[in-house]
Amino acid sequence: MRNLFAHPAVEVAGLVDTNDKVRDWLAGHYPELPFSTNTAMKQLEEWGAQAVVLATPAGTHFDLASQVLESGRHCLVEKPLAMTSGECRQLIDLATRAGVILMVGHTFLFNPVVRELKTIIQAGNLGEIYYAHAQRLNLGRVRKDIDAVWNLAPHDISILLYLFGQMPSRVSARGASYIQPGIADVAFLDLEFPDGKYASIQVSWLDPQKVRRLTVVGSQQMAVYDDVAENKLVIYDKGVDRAHPEKATLGSYEDFGTFQLRLRAGGIQIPQIDFVEPLKMEIAEFVEAILQNRKPLTDGANGLHTVQVLEAATRSMALEGTFVSVER
Ligand SMILES: NC(=O)c1ccc[n+]([C@@H]2O[C@H](COP(=O)([O-])OP(=O)(O)OC[C@H]3O[C@@H](n4cnc5c(N)ncnc54)[C@H](O)[C@@H]3O)[C@@H](O)[C@H]2O)c1
Repeated sequence: MRNLFAHPAVEVAGLVDTNDKVRDWLAGHYPELPFSTNTAMKQLEEWGAQAVVLATPAGTHFDLASQVLESGRHCLVEKPLAMTSGECRQLIDLATRAGVILMVGHTFLFNPVVRELKTIIQAGNLGEIYYAHAQRLNLGRVRKDIDAVWNLAPHDISILLYLFGQMPSRVSARGASYIQPGIADVAFLDLEFPDGKYASIQVSWLDPQKVRRLTVVGSQQMAVYDDVAENKLVIYDKGVDRAHPEKATLGSYEDFGTFQLRLRAGGIQIPQIDFVEPLKMEIAEFVEAILQNRKPLTDGANGLHTVQVLEAATRSMALEGTFVSVER
């Protein structure tokens, strides 16, 4: 709401929430803004709304977004786009037929730190990317409608697909439910990529510490993005070098020297990043995509890809961590 109000091209028409208590919150924050508990499209028509931001629980996304798109309105849906890849495809179809913009709220793709890391990777500064590992841990908020994988992992999956520029071919996942039966509080995901890259993701809402960390290891350098640290992105000039790479290229490893591996523990670099609130950038992207009638960075297909990985993780968890192919 704050970022929608702040955008010069946006006129906020009203807020719909099925919980009437939200009316009181709204009265305290935006007293002029109309409020309704009526989710029917008639209400949006009455307000003259052309676009909708859906920030409701994940299980409601498909139904609500379908109605919004069918009514010819642009729609920004919070992550995950929907609860199955089939639903995502239907939403993409609906948006195409209605000629409106469908966008998913993969917030971290609008985070300047993630953008900088992508630039660094694309420039080849880390060398060949080997693997990455991500942790998203905290105490709470425990959800009843979806497990920790569907709640927390969309962030890391969307970041990894963006940084690696490809989909994983196989996923293995294991989880455990301690608080509510059948709803995993903690999960460990392993993603294998077709070119040999590898990534692991750990998510939990049952952990004593807030951890939001992603490590990317390349052949030349390594990067750590720590969202709760003061220096959010640190590049380490660390790696393992061959002692005589010029000999190794001859194809023979005849003398001892060519076998020697040298650990390189060089300095660190902290890139200067001008931080802009990711949600501000996300709203700006939604508005620009509408005004320019172009696909947003996190379009329906982008939302679908993350859901395909989440689905594979859920299937694997049911098979006690067996690697399963990501359906395309
Ligand atoms: N991108 C991010 O960083 C980020 C962070 C937090 C949450 N989220 C996403 O935002 C969405 C909302 O999360 P939340 O924690 O605020 O959820 P929530 O459970 O607090 O629900 C948000 C609001 O939706 C209302 N609501 C429920 N069903 C509705 C319906 N059918 N129609 C209209 N309103 C309805 C609820 O009354 C509530 O006020 C989720 O999809 C979540 O994944 C994204």
